[in-house]
Amino acid sequence: MEMALLSSDGFMFLLRWLHLFFGVMWIGLLYYFNFVQGSFFAETDPATKSNAIQKLVPRALWWFRWAAMFTMLSGLTYLASKGHRDGFEIFLTSWGVAILTGSALGLFMWANVWFVIWPNQKIVIASATQAAAGGKALPEAAAAGARAGVASRTNTMFSIPMLFFMGAASHLPMAVNPNANLWILVGVFAVIFGLLEANALKGKTGPMTTIQGVISCGFGLAGLLYVLVEVLTK
Ligand code: HEM
Repeated sequence: MEMALLSSDGFMFLLRWLHLFFGVMWIGLLYYFNFVQGSFFAETDPATKSNAIQKLVPRALWWFRWAAMFTMLSGLTYLASKGHRDGFEIFLTSWGVAILTGSALGLFMWANVWFVIWPNQKIVIASATQAAAGGKALPEAAAAGARAGVASRTNTMFSIPMLFFMGAASHLPMAVNPNANLWILVGVFAVIFGLLEANALKGKTGPMTTIQGVISCGFGLAGLLYVLVEVLTK
């Protein structure tokens, strides 16, 4: 009996399935942090907040950062397998432009989780634990929490165009001129992503401070990137 899953297409589908499983886990927790937990922390009493930082946040962050890791690994394995199977010219097609845009956003998000959010949250957790044990809160904890917050808001904004382009790769065929100079698109995106990432590392939340603001920024960024792709690939 022929089994679809045991073919090369089946292997690719299994990778996609795992990628979606980890991706949903990651982005679900990201939205929980940004849309639910932040507002709860702002209005709850200090003892409940401290307890949650010590016992709830570390658990949520464990699933969060490992889901990010396996989403990234399954995504890159898919990219490499597809390039190996179908030839690396596919990166110059509509599929390639969309998936490389989505993946670039996903990679920034993964780096923000592992190199900004998690190290800074470790300081916040250590501070709450020390204060709860009768010691002093760490002086650097407030700045660490704020930096993790800007990176987390940036990831929430990035997630919206990231999902658009991930889905667009196979489900929104765009007309890409094979003679277009895609380096212009790469350069423009490098500037946009670079500025937004620089803000995640050094800047403030600005219009992303409120939930409505960060969602609007995400949809605005998705629209802008989509129009740039359409214009710069002709
Ligand atoms: C971290 C870096 C990431 C990389 C390198 C990556 C890579 C990929 C690749 C290669 C595909 C297959 C595209 C196709 O052939 O249709 C894909 C699809 C997809 N990815 Fe990602 N991805 C990343 C992050 C994420 C995240 C965080 C999510 C969040 C849920 C996500 C959700 C999706 C979705 C929904 C699809 C479309 C599946 C479909 O059309 O059937 N990806 N990704």
